[in-house]
Amino acid sequence: MDSSEKLNVALLGLGRAGRFHIQSIQSIPGINLRYVVDVDEPLARRLAKELECDYSTDADGPLGQADVDAVIVASPTHEHYAQIQAALEAGKPVFTEKPLGSSLEEIDTCFGLAKRSGLPLFVGFNRRFDPSFSSLARGVKEGEVGVLQMLRVTSRDSPMPTMDYISTSHGIFHDCIVHDFDMLRFITGVDPVEVYSVGSSFVEGIGALGDLDNVLVALRYDNGMIASIDVNRFASYGYDQRIEAFGSKGMLQAENRSPVSTVLSSGDGLLRPTIEHSFPTRYREAYRQELVAFSDCLREGAPMPVTHEDVRISFILSELGEQSHREAKPLRVTDHPALKHSPMEDPEK
Ligand SMILES: NC(=O)c1ccc[n+]([C@@H]2O[C@H](COP(=O)([O-])OP(=O)(O)OC[C@H]3O[C@@H](n4cnc5c(N)ncnc54)[C@H](O)[C@@H]3O)[C@@H](O)[C@H]2O)c1
Repeated sequence: MDSSEKLNVALLGLGRAGRFHIQSIQSIPGINLRYVVDVDEPLARRLAKELECDYSTDADGPLGQADVDAVIVASPTHEHYAQIQAALEAGKPVFTEKPLGSSLEEIDTCFGLAKRSGLPLFVGFNRRFDPSFSSLARGVKEGEVGVLQMLRVTSRDSPMPTMDYISTSHGIFHDCIVHDFDMLRFITGVDPVEVYSVGSSFVEGIGALGDLDNVLVALRYDNGMIASIDVNRFASYGYDQRIEAFGSKGMLQAENRSPVSTVLSSGDGLLRPTIEHSFPTRYREAYRQELVAFSDCLREGAPMPVTHEDVRISFILSELGEQSHREAKPLRVTDHPALKHSPMEDPEK
């Protein structure tokens, strides 16, 4: 497409994720929201009026429109696979929220279809686009901490998602920890050889679903490096997102952010403002940058920053993490059925 033309997008799903994508689109001059879709008709109608675009209660609505250049999938997780396929089959490039699907077969099918049709398929691992996390990853790659020995990722949600959301989220590994597995790969460029998870549920409703809300994952790499991921569905003090990289020459830390930086020092001590309450503000810049990157892939043919292999590996680690907790034992990554016979085989080949 002509680089001076605006990219007309259709947005499927107008919930929490849909809203942060609207916020991003409104701040990017090269992207125009052409269509909104939600099964909640009053919501779709109201937002279409507000945003001056068309609306539909069905994804087929925008897929038949010649002036829709691309589709953003932000519907509930169980809808992604069918909607991605339908959009690609209609010849539309796709940006999708994570997780892409509920199996490796679904992931491979979507990427296979995208490849055969020559259309971009972009999976929204937004944390790669966070300025602090990407600066930490760059520092590690450039040797600022020397030989990397320990990576610690903390990821605690706020506020607690609704039980409706959690019950259709595909579980804490595929819904939340998949982001953290992706961050480890993004920072290190290598994959672990062993995964061990322990978890529990303090929230009764989550336990009743057979899901977890409090999880620790330990990962071992073949050069001796160790990583840990600790995740909780709810932190009472705000959206807690930190990464620490420790190595032979030093340590890099990406700390929590606060909306204001005022600190009160008094005889009682130091009083700092609370950290960001939730993801729409904490990752505002990352959500914007990932859509800019998607637009660059379409306009300039820029390489896809999140590859088919990235998406497969984070899915495989999520499955192994779940299995390790269930079986209460560490698991070798190459024992996963998809890697057993051809470790880390490149699915593009
Ligand atoms: N990357 C991130 O930081 C991040 C954050 C939150 C959610 N997500 C992902 O975004 C997706 C949506 O999550 P959410 O929190 O916005 O959920 P949500 O429940 O807040 O919103 C989902 C919306 O989709 C609508 N919907 C239901 N079926 C639909 C269909 N067939 N077509 C179109 N719309 C449909 C619902 O009516 C609702 O308005 C999930 O896959 C989740 O994993 C990603």
